Amino acid sequence: MNDRATARIPMSDPHKSQQETGTPGVWDDSRSHNWIVLQDALERMLGPIGDAAIKALAPRQGETFLDVGCGCGRTSLALARAAGPDGSVRGADLSPSMLAAGRAEASAERLGNVHFIEANAQTHDFGPARFDGLFSRFGVMFFDDPAAAFSNLAKTLKPGGRLAFACWRDRREVEWFEMPIRVASRHLPAPDLPGQGPGAFSLARPERIHFVLTAAGFSDIEATPLDLRTGGGDIDEVLSILKIGFVGEHIRQFPDRAEAAWEAIRRELADYATPDGVFIGTGTWIVTARRA
Ligand SMILES: C[S@@+](CC[C@H](N)C(=O)[O-])C[C@H]1O[C@@H](n2cnc3c(N)ncnc32)[C@H](O)[C@@H]1O
Repeated sequence: MNDRATARIPMSDPHKSQQETGTPGVWDDSRSHNWIVLQDALERMLGPIGDAAIKALAPRQGETFLDVGCGCGRTSLALARAAGPDGSVRGADLSPSMLAAGRAEASAERLGNVHFIEANAQTHDFGPARFDGLFSRFGVMFFDDPAAAFSNLAKTLKPGGRLAFACWRDRREVEWFEMPIRVASRHLPAPDLPGQGPGAFSLARPERIHFVLTAAGFSDIEATPLDLRTGGGDIDEVLSILKIGFVGEHIRQFPDRAEAAWEAIRRELADYATPDGVFIGTGTWIVTARRA
C-alpha cells in the first residue's frame, strides 16, 4: 500500500463524526490496573504483533527511539536492547502505575538506556528532531485529535526519521473480538461497529491512517496487514483478557445476561485449545512512515 492517493485527500478529516470528537478518558486507572495484573497474559497475545512492528522499525545499535503509549514498557525494553548501550529509548504514557511497572522491569534487567515519562503524547513537547524512530504497539489509537497528535510526534523525529506502529484492523477482521461477540450475541444484542473516535478501532481504516499521517507531515506511508494466531494461555486467561477489553465493556451493559454470554464464550473457546494453549486469530495493520 502506498500514499499515492493522498493528493485527493481534503483538508478536514472526513472520517471523524461530530459526536466522536472530545476526550472520553478511555484510559483510566482501573484499566491501567488490569493491564498491569494481566501483563504476562497480554504479552502472550500482543508480543508477536509488537515483534512484527519492531522488525518493521528496523532498530539499529546507537539509535534513539520514542515508544508512544508504552504502557508497562515491554516493547520499550525490547527497543532498548536493540539500541544497545550507545542508543536510548524513552517510553511515554499517561499512566503512572504502568510506567512504574516498566521502570521496575528495566531496573531488574539493569537496562540503563531506557527511561519512562508520564506524558500526553498528543501535546507533550518531546524536544525537536530528537529521535531516530517513533514506535507504538496499540498506543496511538486513543488521541482525540489524531492529526494534531501525530503532527506533535513528527516534530520530535529527526528529518527522515522512521515511524512504525501496530493498530487493530476492522473489528470484523479480528477473530479475538469477533468470535466472542458472535457467541455473546446469542444471549444479548450485538454492539454497533465501532466508529473512528478515540478507541481500539480508531485507525482501523487504512484511508484514515493515510489521511492522518499525511496531514501530520509523514511520507512513505504503508499499512501492511498482519494476521497472526496468538495466545498460548488457558481458557481462563483468555476470558480474563476479554473481560478487560472491548468485549467485556459490551457484555457489562447487560448484567442479567452476562453470565450466560460468558459461559457460551467459555464453551466456544474449547475449540481453540491446542496442546500449547488457546490460540485465536488477530488482524492488525503494521504501519510504517517517515518524517517528510
Ligand atoms: C492498549 S494499551 C498498549 C500499551 C502498550 N503499548 C502495550 O502494547 O502493552 C494503550 C496505552 O496507551 C496509553 N495512552 C493512551 N492515550 C495516550 C496519550 N494521549 N499519551 C500517552 N499515552 C497514551 C494508555 O495509557 C495505555 O497504556
